[in-house]
Amino acid sequence: MSDVNLPLAERKQLKEKMLTKHHLANILTHWFNAVSWAFLLATGLAILGRQVYQTVPAGWSDVVRNVFGGLAPLIKWHESWGMFWAFIITFNFVVGFRKYFMPFGARRMMLDKDDLNWFVQYGRKLVGLSYELPPQDDYNAGQKAFSYVVLIGIVGIIITGLIMTFSHLIPISLRWLVQWAMPAHFTAVGMVVTGLVIHIYMGAIFPEERPAFFSMFSGKVHALYAYSHHRKWYNRYVTAEQEWEQEQVARDLAGHEQPDTMPPRSTLALDDFLGD
Ligand code: HEM
Repeated sequence: MSDVNLPLAERKQLKEKMLTKHHLANILTHWFNAVSWAFLLATGLAILGRQVYQTVPAGWSDVVRNVFGGLAPLIKWHESWGMFWAFIITFNFVVGFRKYFMPFGARRMMLDKDDLNWFVQYGRKLVGLSYELPPQDDYNAGQKAFSYVVLIGIVGIIITGLIMTFSHLIPISLRWLVQWAMPAHFTAVGMVVTGLVIHIYMGAIFPEERPAFFSMFSGKVHALYAYSHHRKWYNRYVTAEQEWEQEQVARDLAGHEQPDTMPPRSTLALDDFLGD
């Protein structure tokens, strides 16, 4: 874990406090996406096997083709799951665009001065030089950079996948579109997979990020991890919590001893703020 200059008692206290980082919809979408990627990658590489783009040992293609009963049904499975995956991802994006993507996209993706410095400092850390990582938001600069790779890659994969799946509807004069779709599809997948190697290593293996891994199941991280890895987010979280508490105290002082039947506005705001 990165340096935390706090007394032990305070660190212990922070470790016991849990903060919500991901909501259920976010967790379900993420794991649906991960499982889909595993399936589409395994089947896609087997479809490519023994062709110009062969990237896996021929044995892999043979095994997967046999499991699915031949190349034609394998392609059908790949296309059908690909369409289903594309529909769920697009649906989530469109439905959550205003509530989730717009307000949080900016914080998740926009790189600020601290983020640029984070790349420099992290580079120094990797080569064993002295470093001081600047404070980060709920996603660090590396994660933000990965989100561009995912977004651009997924758009490319869906468009080229649609062109190939519905190639029979494309007129002869536009045949070149289908021809270009295949290498473009392959390139977009390769781009995301390159980022995924780091993403999965950081998420599932790297000890420092273990709390982030568990948060992808429970939705929560302990406050010590948030404090040491995502200080800007931690500070905003604590401020929003304090504001809510002050509001509650003010309400109590004003004589509203009993809670409203509706959740207080500030709770909703806090929830919205904490939501992904
Ligand atoms: C075994 C596979 C995977 C593991 C172990 C994994 C792990 C994680 C973890 C731990 C986080 C939380 C990071 C944090 O809160 O700081 C995360 C978030 C994320 N992952 Fe993955 N991931 C996997 C597969 C994928 C795949 C296949 C994609 C996309 C192609 C992906 C895209 C993302 C994105 C965009 C986020 C940030 C947005 C969000 O909170 O959902 N992940 N992943």
